[in-house]
Amino acid sequence: MEEIRNARFIRTPLPTAEKAWRFFRDFSVAKPVKSAVLEVSALGCYVADVNGTEAKTYVLAPGWTSFDTRLQVQTCDVTALLKPGENTLSITAGIGFCFTAEAGFRIPKPGQHETPELPVGNLAVIAALILTYADGTKETVYTDGAWQVEETAWRYTQMYNGDIFDAGYRPDRTYPVTVLPLTTERLIPQQGEIIAEQEHLPVKEVIHTPAGETVLDFGQNLTGYVSFRVKGEKYGVCRLSHGEIIDKHGNFFNENYRSAKAQIAFICDGKEHIYKPRFSFFGFRYVRVDEWSGEFDPRDFEAIVVHSDMKRTGYFSCSDPKINQLYHNIVWGQKGNFLDVPTDCPQRDERMGWTGDAEVFCRCASFNYDTRKFFRKWLADMRADQAEDGIVGRIIPRMWAAQVAAPAWSDACTIIPWQLYLTYGDKSFLSDNLDMMRRFIEYIRRDPDAYFSPDQHGYGDWLALDTKTVRTVGATPKGFIAACYTYLSVTIYLKSCEILGAPHDDYEPFLNRIRSEIYEKYMDEEKFNRESPIADSFSLHTQTRLVLLLALGLYRSEEEKKALAAELDRMVREAGHLTTGFVGTPWLLHVLTENGYADTAYDLLFYEDLPSWLYAVNRGATTIWERWNALDENGDVFGSVMVSFNHYAYGAVGDWLYMKTLGINYDEEKPGFAHIILSPVTNDRLTHAEGSLLTKYGEIKSSWKKERGKTEYAFTVPAGTTATVVLPGIREEVGAGDHRFVI
Ligand code: BGC
Repeated sequence: MEEIRNARFIRTPLPTAEKAWRFFRDFSVAKPVKSAVLEVSALGCYVADVNGTEAKTYVLAPGWTSFDTRLQVQTCDVTALLKPGENTLSITAGIGFCFTAEAGFRIPKPGQHETPELPVGNLAVIAALILTYADGTKETVYTDGAWQVEETAWRYTQMYNGDIFDAGYRPDRTYPVTVLPLTTERLIPQQGEIIAEQEHLPVKEVIHTPAGETVLDFGQNLTGYVSFRVKGEKYGVCRLSHGEIIDKHGNFFNENYRSAKAQIAFICDGKEHIYKPRFSFFGFRYVRVDEWSGEFDPRDFEAIVVHSDMKRTGYFSCSDPKINQLYHNIVWGQKGNFLDVPTDCPQRDERMGWTGDAEVFCRCASFNYDTRKFFRKWLADMRADQAEDGIVGRIIPRMWAAQVAAPAWSDACTIIPWQLYLTYGDKSFLSDNLDMMRRFIEYIRRDPDAYFSPDQHGYGDWLALDTKTVRTVGATPKGFIAACYTYLSVTIYLKSCEILGAPHDDYEPFLNRIRSEIYEKYMDEEKFNRESPIADSFSLHTQTRLVLLLALGLYRSEEEKKALAAELDRMVREAGHLTTGFVGTPWLLHVLTENGYADTAYDLLFYEDLPSWLYAVNRGATTIWERWNALDENGDVFGSVMVSFNHYAYGAVGDWLYMKTLGINYDEEKPGFAHIILSPVTNDRLTHAEGSLLTKYGEIKSSWKKERGKTEYAFTVPAGTTATVVLPGIREEVGAGDHRFVI
């Protein structure tokens, strides 16, 4: 990937104006060609072709990185596309992930990928085509001032709003390009997984709604786009709108997309076409056919599922169909939100790399799929976007002007590398990110009073349902969450230093400072309520408080630990359900199970009313919802301000299915499953469960079934590893191979 550094970024001479533009140049091939390699990228999204045949880069290339400092270059072999004599290299590009200043909620930070010559909202492309001739000589075609550019049939294309494609449009003039004074330092070789079309889903049902709409149901909430065949009358319009749900009246609903219009308009030219978006994508299950020209046949449509090309590694199934549907929804939550960046949601005017969401889901994600490459790239963006003072922000790649730290969100910078180390046993996740971890905790250590203060910025236990009034931050005090997560981050940093043999400061005084913060302010409910100026809105009487204390080992004695666990169990039983949000939920079932309350954990898993995982399953969910109550008991959507039906955070419970129901656990001492702890936890509501996890050593399998009063367990331990089997009354070391236990 070196030639492209000699090329120039070129842009349209007129404002890009949310159109796709075709940059092109002719070149001649005078001698037999041995190979032709294209290196290409864009501040925008591009499709490259040679003589009209597309070069195989990938969907929505060059992906989404911290564009000011990191822009991925794709390299592909185009030898077969050349012909002797005159050839044309074209790059057609839309604004893509670079967004326009008008892009709704997603406002680029000032200066992002921007120079006075390339204001936000304008795209640029760069490429080098390296020709190696049979006689050993070389020639390179670079983007430079000799290129031309013209408008295309994409009269409009923008990621949130969609496309207007005029099939009959023919550009009537070309323009000379403008060469930008941008340096090529930001160019890096492709680092993440490529983005690819993964599945093609036909229309499952055509719905004619009471409002008179025609709606195509693809049967699955997904991320990608619709492809359709059309032969409409000249100037006839076909228009499609995307949505995630059918409302309680049976009508199409997408107000929850907020300002994202999520529409495709196709203007016909009387000829047959097969259309699919190239510079936009949507999160949807339903497509409303707003207008159509020509014959309408649902067989002419398919939904194309698009996500990062990760290898599937984990599988789970059990005797309960609803739990299987929940697991399905968790996996689809990952498919829908692992499109180059781990996003909160794929549909509304957001779709951003919120760090907290990725932090809570990372463990489950790393079981479902091989996420090494995906997260390695995103963590590199996180490092690139870390502020001078050490702050790791809420959103990576960074958006919005202010770089603000948020507890449990910013801690993604320690928790994710650590989790990847545990799942994959690769120390480079720690060494690559050690300095980022240190700088982040140093930022807090410089002024812990501010960071642990009750009114500190942050999202609390986001969307927890434990307050009387409707609030997004939940009842658990924000200062408490800040102190707990700092404790966790410092602990991870110190363990990482130890593993790497890296020197570090003495953090014991800081850890003690955090412990006393927690023990003095947050252990005694009575005291908190008396002393806290905001006792009415924040409370210590929350499940999440107990969950965090137990999960992080923040107790002073075994008796205190037992008392906290008993209190958590009592609170859950008293409520009859969980009341936790983004912060408490991922730990909740683990903490209950590890403290002797596995049956309570299973009760929560099987609970079907609000709030619970199966509540959404019973309402036909095919992905995980952002809010427990995204739809209330009457079927009403929870406002339309912040409701997503494809938000993976609560899907974190998937790691409990792997680690507790199947009992497949890594051993922190020998990570990456070099040594495995096999400790399934059964429950009478299930007659069997089975699953597997592909590790670098091979596949670990675990299953159990209950028959005639006995439980039979079966495990496969891959070659090169050992396992400790922990079952009621049994603790046994085993080697590679198949193992069976009947109890
Ligand atoms: C996103 C979240 C995110 C949150 C921050 C929301 O708008 O969708 O998932 O973590 O903001 O609290």
